[in-house]
Amino acid sequence: MNLETIVSLCKRRGFIFPGSEIYGGLANSWDYGPLGHLLKQNIKAAWWKFFVQEREDMVPLDTAIIMNPKVWQASGHIENFSDPLVECKKCHHRFRVDHLLEAKAAEPGYAKEKPREVADIPCPDCGGPLTDPKQFNLMFKTFIGSTEDDASVAYLRPETAAGMFVNFKNIQQTTRRRLPFGIAQIGKNFRNEITPGNFIFRTREFEIGEFEYFIKPDEWEKHFELWLAEIKRWWKDIMQVNMDHLVWHEIPDGERAHYSKRTVDIEYQYPFGVKELHGIAYRTDFDLSRHEKMSGEDLHYTDPETGEKFLPHVIEPTFGIDRMLLVSLLEAYHEEDVAATAAGGVPPEGGKDGKTETRIVMKFPKHLAPIKVAVLPLSKKEELSSVAKGIAVDLRKHFSVDYDETQSIGKRYRRQDEIGTPYCVTVDFDSLEDKKVTVRERDSMKQERIAISELKGYLFGQFQS
Ligand code: GAP
Repeated sequence: MNLETIVSLCKRRGFIFPGSEIYGGLANSWDYGPLGHLLKQNIKAAWWKFFVQEREDMVPLDTAIIMNPKVWQASGHIENFSDPLVECKKCHHRFRVDHLLEAKAAEPGYAKEKPREVADIPCPDCGGPLTDPKQFNLMFKTFIGSTEDDASVAYLRPETAAGMFVNFKNIQQTTRRRLPFGIAQIGKNFRNEITPGNFIFRTREFEIGEFEYFIKPDEWEKHFELWLAEIKRWWKDIMQVNMDHLVWHEIPDGERAHYSKRTVDIEYQYPFGVKELHGIAYRTDFDLSRHEKMSGEDLHYTDPETGEKFLPHVIEPTFGIDRMLLVSLLEAYHEEDVAATAAGGVPPEGGKDGKTETRIVMKFPKHLAPIKVAVLPLSKKEELSSVAKGIAVDLRKHFSVDYDETQSIGKRYRRQDEIGTPYCVTVDFDSLEDKKVTVRERDSMKQERIAISELKGYLFGQFQS
């Protein structure tokens, strides 16, 4: 599948728009439209329910985006959060060295044993020579207050993790948690990426959902395996992706961040190649020990049973919310030939004269679908629309509902398919007599007559099953 197909559907139907579009846009910035916002909310709510709400060992947190700059000294971001960058001497385009080397290694006929030297690579855009690599720090700088001097420099956070580490003591003391327990948050992050791109895959502002799971040092292997199993359950049962599209990449020694003893990147087969979706890392006591040193605060934990004092170790599962949303769009997209089928008082699904036609249908898991139910009166006549509007008002108390009375019912079904609405409720002239409506299910396109008085209960049942 082509990424452009998804980008264009997202724009056409109001999932995702190019950022600042009326001003010509801002490269690689994107705005979530009405449906994209709902989809993102649903993904975040499902993530929160699965990893936080349903567990007894997790506590929530919501920390500031701008933190004391010492936080980033302690975490190593000021010193190390940089990518090697080269610039073309001719066209002045900039590239990340690791991306150039990755692209080179993927070229047909490229011998793996060849030295991977950026000096051997010309500019991919104009063929010009590239400069020597320079380190480029990815943090967005800003100033606190009205003076723009070194003393007022601050940074937009590049990850949510630091907020969890600096609040470890506050949380442990106020909640009186015993190990193991986790602190979770979802929030916006900012990275001045050298080469953003591939739609919402790599942007300069994005959301992360992550948690720091604090454990006894000698239990890390057990907890790492438990979290890997939970992550698999998340993708299979909640996000309902085709598990063959995921790659579980064990990062070998020498390629992991220096503080990590084990990292697994969960990768996905995107239309632009197999790339990182999210990850899980065992970070030892690196973060707490650095923050303890920098802040001078004692961040040790005292085991209530043994009295032993130690710095907890940490397993960190981290999830890019925007990448999960991209994956949900890619997994949901289907094109299907539809044959004419008639049911109840509702016209056939297929094209005219019984011909087949192609429908685009976003088969989101029902709990993630942005709109849950569409209410569609067969005609705009007041006698039908008043009944249909009453049903919509009632359903809106429980579900996100779309009401649509324009164009043919076939076209309206296609519009709902294209945004992934699981149920369409059609009110026809028979409804006035038998007080029933036709409920049409998105994937099977099966239609059922349901009493209006039982509709809400019927839909609740469908979303629970
Ligand atoms: N605390 C660990 C941490 O921040 P990371 O791998 O740097 O780890 C977490 O980032 C996740 O955020 C990634 O696995 C990815 O899903 C997402 N992510 C990272 N950079 C991104 C970007 N520029 N645009 C969109 N998502 C990004």
